[in-house]
Amino acid sequence: MEKIKILLIEDEEFDVQRVLKTVNLQSEQLEIAEIVSDGKSALELIEAEPNRFDVVIMDFQIAGGLMGEELISEIKKISPCMQIIVITKLTLNDNRFEFANRLLKIGAFWYCTKYPTHIMEYIYQPTDFLISIHNAYQKKMLELGKFEYDKKMSSNIGIIMESKKIIGSSEQIKLLNSMIMKYASRDVNVLIYGESGTGKELVAYNLHYNSPRKFENFVRINCGSIPHDLIESELFGYEKFAFTGANKDKKGLFEIADNGTVFLDEIADLPLNTQSKLLRVLQDGEIEKIGRSETIKVNVRVIAASNKNLEDEVRAKRFREDLYYRLNIIPIIIPPLRERKDDIKELLNFFILKYSDSLRLDKPIFSDEAVEEIMNYGWPGNVRELKSFAQRILFIDSNTIGADVVRISLNNLHLSHKNEDAILDHLFDVEKILYLREFEKTARSKYIQFVRENSSSDKQAAEKLGIAQPNFSRLCKELNLK
Ligand SMILES: Nc1ncnc2c1ncn2[C@@H]1O[C@H](COP(=O)(O)OP(=O)(O)OP(=O)(O)O)[C@@H](O)[C@H]1O
Ligand SMILES: [Mg+2]
Repeated sequence: MEKIKILLIEDEEFDVQRVLKTVNLQSEQLEIAEIVSDGKSALELIEAEPNRFDVVIMDFQIAGGLMGEELISEIKKISPCMQIIVITKLTLNDNRFEFANRLLKIGAFWYCTKYPTHIMEYIYQPTDFLISIHNAYQKKMLELGKFEYDKKMSSNIGIIMESKKIIGSSEQIKLLNSMIMKYASRDVNVLIYGESGTGKELVAYNLHYNSPRKFENFVRINCGSIPHDLIESELFGYEKFAFTGANKDKKGLFEIADNGTVFLDEIADLPLNTQSKLLRVLQDGEIEKIGRSETIKVNVRVIAASNKNLEDEVRAKRFREDLYYRLNIIPIIIPPLRERKDDIKELLNFFILKYSDSLRLDKPIFSDEAVEEIMNYGWPGNVRELKSFAQRILFIDSNTIGADVVRISLNNLHLSHKNEDAILDHLFDVEKILYLREFEKTARSKYIQFVRENSSSDKQAAEKLGIAQPNFSRLCKELNLK
C-alpha cells in the first residue's frame, strides 16, 4: 500500500520533533514527505507538485507573514481536495468553539491543541491524531473522485453545448441569448413561443445546460405525439397492478426528471384533464401516480413550448387559464427567420460548413443572384428548412450555385415539407418553375375556384374556407375570379 504523504508546516524545531514522533508510530502507513517553516514555501511546494501530498499538517501561528486562516484558504485555492489538519498553541485565547468553526468553514479538516511542552513525546493524543490523518486521507480521495467526476461531466456538457450552439448575430438572437443567460440559472418556468423550426427545442436545451440542474436529466415530452389515453401514464407513471396489464411499476417522465428539467413540447396539445394534473405538479411539486394513494414529491423545472398562441387557446377554453399563468412566468419569443434576415447568411454558412465536413462534400459557391433568392425567400419552415436546404445543396453536382438551382431546391423542399393537395400537382413542373409569389397566387386562385365549383353559393364557399363573405368577395376580385 502507498503511504499517506504529509506536508508539515511548522517553524519550531521542538514541535517538528513531536509531530515526527507521533506520526512515526505508524511509519508503515504514514510519511512526512516534506517539512517547511513558512507558508510561502508550502504554497510553492504544493503548486509545483499538487499530487505529491495528501494531507497538510500546519501550525496555526508561524513566522513569515503568511499563516493561519489565510494560509488555509490559499492552499485550498491551489489544491481544492487537499485536507488540512491544524495544530494550535494552548495559549490561543480565542473562544474555542467559534475558532474551530471558523477553521472548518474556511476548509480545515480537523484541529487540535498541542500538548503542553512538558509532554516531550507527542504533539497530541496519538491515536486521535493518527486516526484524523487517515480520515483526512479518506476525505481527500472522496473529494478527488467527485472532482474528477464533475470535471468529466462538465466536459461532456461542454461537448453537448458545442452541438447546441445558437447561431446568429441579429439583434433578436442577441436578445434571445441574453435572456437565456439571464434566466437559465433562475429556477423559474419558461414558456417558449415560436413558429415551427425556429429553435424552441434548442433554446430549451440551452436553458437546461446553463442551469445548476445541468448534471441532472433533461426530459423532453412531445405532448402532441403521445395518444391521449397514454399521456398520464407517460407523465406520471403507474404502480404495479394499477390496471390490467400493469405488470410492473413504471416511472413517469416527471419522476425521471426529478432534480432536472422537463421540457413540455407542444404544450397546447395537452388534454384538459391532464392539464389539471400538471397544474398540481407545478403548484405543489407532487405527482399522482396511477394506482398509488400517496402522492410523490418531485423537484422539476418546467420549460414548455408552443407554436400556437396560448392566449387564443385559453380564450377558446382549450387551455386552462391558471395553468397558462403558471407556465408563462418568463415568456421567450423566437422570431421567425424572415424577421431576422441578418441570420440567414450566417446560418447557411454554418450548415454548409458543418455538413460539407461531416459528409465530405465540397463547399459550393453561391452566385449573387442565388444569394438574393435565398434572402428574399420567406422560409416558412424557418431554420429547420434552411438546414435541409443546405444539406440538399451540397448534393448538387456543381461548384457554383445559381438562382435557378436555389429556386428548384426550395420548391422541392416545400413540397416535401407539405403534402400538397392533388389539385396542385400540375403546378409542380420542373420545366416551368414560378416565382414564389406567382406560385402562391396561382395556387390560391385554383383552390378557390375548386371550392366555388363545389359549393351552392359564394356564402357557402366562404363558410367552407372559414372566412367572412366580404373577405371572400374581395379575394375573388383580387384574383380576377369574377
Ligand atoms: N439559431 C440556430 N442556430 C443553429 N441551429 C438552429 C437554430 N435554430 C434552429 N436550429 C436548428 O434547426 C432545427 C429545428 O430547431 P428546433 O427543433 O429547436 O425547432 P422547434 O422550434 O422546436 O421546431 P418545432 O416547432 O417544429 O418542434 C434543429 O436542428 C436546430 O438545431
Ligand atoms: Mg420542437
